[in-house]
Amino acid sequence: MAKFEKHIFICTNQRPDGNPRSCCNPSGNAELHRAFKEKLSARGIPGDKVRANKAGCLEQCEVGPTVVVYPDAVWYGGVTPADVDEIIDSHIVGGRLVERLIIPDSVLNNTQKK
Ligand code: FES
Repeated sequence: MAKFEKHIFICTNQRPDGNPRSCCNPSGNAELHRAFKEKLSARGIPGDKVRANKAGCLEQCEVGPTVVVYPDAVWYGGVTPADVDEIIDSHIVGGRLVERLIIPDSVLNNTQKK
């Protein structure tokens, strides 16, 4: 099997209400992951080319909901289901990053120190 062209990891970690770190999936329903799956499928993008996987905590909780796209290693924060069309059309299909959602390098892996 060929490698995936894009591999999208969507944090679906859930924490209890009131947790100081918050979480990316407060409802527990993984709506964001489902939106990626449905919208990729609706565009006819095969799962052996672009894969959207549930992920556990990606350690960017404070700027989540968090999504990372490989092999580009582009991290998106504050992602909602309403952003999924833009991420797919611009980045996954078009190769143009969605700058407004990118977690800056200065924040990435540094969120617990904020
Ligand atoms: S809970 Fe999503 S990055 Fe930690």
